[in-house]
Amino acid sequence: MDFIASDRSCLDWTGDCLIIGLSEESLPLTGILSELNDKVAGMLQTLIDEEEFEAKAGTTAITRLGPDAPVKKIGVVGLGSSDAMELEGLRRGAAIAARAATKAKCRTLGISFPVWNNSQALTAQAITEGMILAMNRDQRFKSEPDKSTNELDQVELLSFAGEDAAIQKAKMICEGVILARELVAAPPNVVTPAKLADTAADLARDYGLKLEVLERDQCEALGMGAYLGVAQASDLPPKFIHLTYSPAETAQRKLAIIGKGLTFDSGGLNLKPSGSGIEMMKIDMGGAAAVLGAAKAIAQLKPDVEVHFISAATENMISGHAMRPGDILTASNGKTIEVNNTDAEGRLTLADALVFTDKLGVDAMINLATLTGACVVALGDDIGALFSQDEDLSGKLTAAAKLSGEKLWQMPMEEKYFEGLKSVVADMKNTGPRAGGSITAALFLKQFVKDTPWAHLDIAGPVWSEKENAYNSPGATGYGVRLLVQWVIDSQS
Ligand code: BES
Ligand code: MG
Ligand code: ZN
Repeated sequence: MDFIASDRSCLDWTGDCLIIGLSEESLPLTGILSELNDKVAGMLQTLIDEEEFEAKAGTTAITRLGPDAPVKKIGVVGLGSSDAMELEGLRRGAAIAARAATKAKCRTLGISFPVWNNSQALTAQAITEGMILAMNRDQRFKSEPDKSTNELDQVELLSFAGEDAAIQKAKMICEGVILARELVAAPPNVVTPAKLADTAADLARDYGLKLEVLERDQCEALGMGAYLGVAQASDLPPKFIHLTYSPAETAQRKLAIIGKGLTFDSGGLNLKPSGSGIEMMKIDMGGAAAVLGAAKAIAQLKPDVEVHFISAATENMISGHAMRPGDILTASNGKTIEVNNTDAEGRLTLADALVFTDKLGVDAMINLATLTGACVVALGDDIGALFSQDEDLSGKLTAAAKLSGEKLWQMPMEEKYFEGLKSVVADMKNTGPRAGGSITAALFLKQFVKDTPWAHLDIAGPVWSEKENAYNSPGATGYGVRLLVQWVIDSQS
């Protein structure tokens, strides 16, 4: 699918399918749109009338034109009210347009959308992202690829001349999102800790990043007892991944992103029962996937920021040498943890990853983790939780969430709840009471951060979606990549 930032307008484009994005306020048709209507012998208005199209967000209609028309088909996509219009509305509208055009068996698409907030560049980027992500289908594990849907060859963004860089940027970001989706969607017998490390090695080779993978003995030497406690039942070796992007010039800022990288979470000896979603626990490396996806995008976008990408990858398994409920582990900052539940393993791996990252001297670090079921109960499938006591950092992440369309909701870090993690024998337990489970998880992580500004994102809900949405087919969403990239890019200013 090629994208062109075109100097042609909807009046002079020719091809298979022309789709116009309409806000509610742009009806009835005026100006250039009524000119277009004349050009297509009134068929645009007829389509709107017959379909009772009101330009509500998420709606679309398409019709065939006569043999003399400049385009074979013309369609409309509703963008809702222009007052409430966010970039995300255009991203979704573009996705719906691409789906409608492919369903109508078109190969070339001309798209005419309003400009959001006077920014041609952000609008072109959002349209391109929506389309690429909507068209992405993962057939790697099908023996017979499904050829029933048509593919678009060429998309022209009408009246977006000069926005080639915005299209390029969208493509790079989407490559990162698609990598994250593919890592999450792949089964746990394919995406192992070693596979995550190999993926990091591919990125390092392709884009000239620096890579360090710490093996078990090196992690041992660093005292990473919490991480290695989780890893000890697996037959697969753990891989502590540290990938670094450095800009050509001296970096203005240094940032770090850490991802929970459990390639499978059985629960350990506190084994997840059937019905608990154990068969979905391949998604427990969604944080690491977002981190590697962001690395792929950032390495191509080349911002003036040094970025560290980190994941303490392993499985959480059962065996005769598994950590036991009740074991006491010592993390690399010397703190001792009574493991009262082996299924709260993500925070154990993150503990050592946070201690490691804290020592890099970065300006800010954030971790992404499919950490708690409690968070899914609280915020559902579409929204990630943001935990941070740093107002500047949480403000920046909230702003990045808004622009990227990846939703975040800030949760309280209620210090008092740490009492729930008090242990009689060790410095802390790894789990507290059921109530407020995502908050105690965040407070646990906080014990492993000294003074680097830090945020924890619990992404257990949005990494996977069973429902189809505008630009996501059911399955892995690649959540986090666009948000992370936006945050890194914005940190330059
Ligand atoms: N990986 C899970 C959390 C999870 C649940 C991710 C649902 C994605 C979807 C995590 O390791 C876990 O098992 N958490 C436990 C914590 C509990 C033992 C305190 C949970 O949420 O039940
Ligand atoms: Mg678990
Ligand atoms: Zn887990």
